[in-house]
Amino acid sequence: MKVLILPDTATAVSRVADILAQTLDAGRGCTMGLATGGTMVPLYAEIVARHRAGQLSLAQVTTFNLDEYVGLAPDHPGSYHRYMAEVLFDHTDIRPGHAHLPRGDAPDPRAEAMAYEARIAREGGIDLQVLGLGQNGHIAFNEPTSSLGSRTRIKTLTDDTRRANRPYFDREEDMPRYAITMGIATILEARAIVLLATGASKADAVAAMVEGPVSALCPASALQLHPKATIVLDAKAASALRLTNYYHHVHPDGQESDYS
Ligand code: F6R
Repeated sequence: MKVLILPDTATAVSRVADILAQTLDAGRGCTMGLATGGTMVPLYAEIVARHRAGQLSLAQVTTFNLDEYVGLAPDHPGSYHRYMAEVLFDHTDIRPGHAHLPRGDAPDPRAEAMAYEARIAREGGIDLQVLGLGQNGHIAFNEPTSSLGSRTRIKTLTDDTRRANRPYFDREEDMPRYAITMGIATILEARAIVLLATGASKADAVAAMVEGPVSALCPASALQLHPKATIVLDAKAASALRLTNYYHHVHPDGQESDYS
C-alpha cells in the first residue's frame, strides 16, 4: 500500500488527478472504475478543468461506477446517474454508451447486479479503480461486515451511511435503503486502485484501513491485500495514522519514489 500524504485537500485532489491523467495517457482504451460522493466533487472539477484546458481527454475511456441506489431512475435528482452527468460526463468528451452505472430502477435489481459484474468482465476488467472512503470504513457501499469475497450485489445501507447522504435528498422518506454495489472482490480485481480521503471526519477510518487488521469490520482494510493500491490523503485525513513519519520519508510531499 502506498500512502501519499499531501498538505491540504487541493494538493491531494491534484495528486489523484495526476494519477488519472497518467492512466488516460498510458492506455488508449483504458477502463476506469469511478466513485461518487462529496470527496469526488473537487476531483471531477479538476478533471473537467484539465479537459477544458486541452490537457486530457476521456474519448478513449470506458467507465464503470461503483454503485447506484436501488429504486432510483437515472433522472432522479439523488441518483448517481444524475450526479455523474452533472459533475463529470456532461462536461467532457466521454463517448455516449461508454459510461456505465448499475440501473437502480431495474425490475430485478439482483439480476442487474449480476449483469453489471458480467459487463465489467466482458470489458476486460478495470485498469484503475477510483475509491472514496466512508466514515465507517466502507468502500463503494460495502458496509462493515461485508464479505471480503463479495461480488456486485444489493447491500442494505447502514444508518450512518443514510445519515451522511441524507442532504442529497429532499425528504427523509426519499433516502434509499438499499444500493447495488460492486463487491470487495470485484474491487480488488482492478489492476490498480487509488483511494482519496480528505478531512478530519475520515481520520479514524483511514487509520483502520491502513494500519488496522484486515477485517470485514473495516471493508477498506481489504485494500491491504491489493498489490497496487495508492492511498492519497490530506493532512487531516492522515492525522490518526501512527507511522506518519515513515510515509513522509518514503514519499516526500506525496511524490513517487523508486522503492515504496
Ligand atoms: C459512492 C462511494 C462511497 C463514497 C463514501 C464517501 O460511490 O463509493 O463509498 O466514496 O461514502 O463519501 P463522501 O465522499 O461523500 O464522504
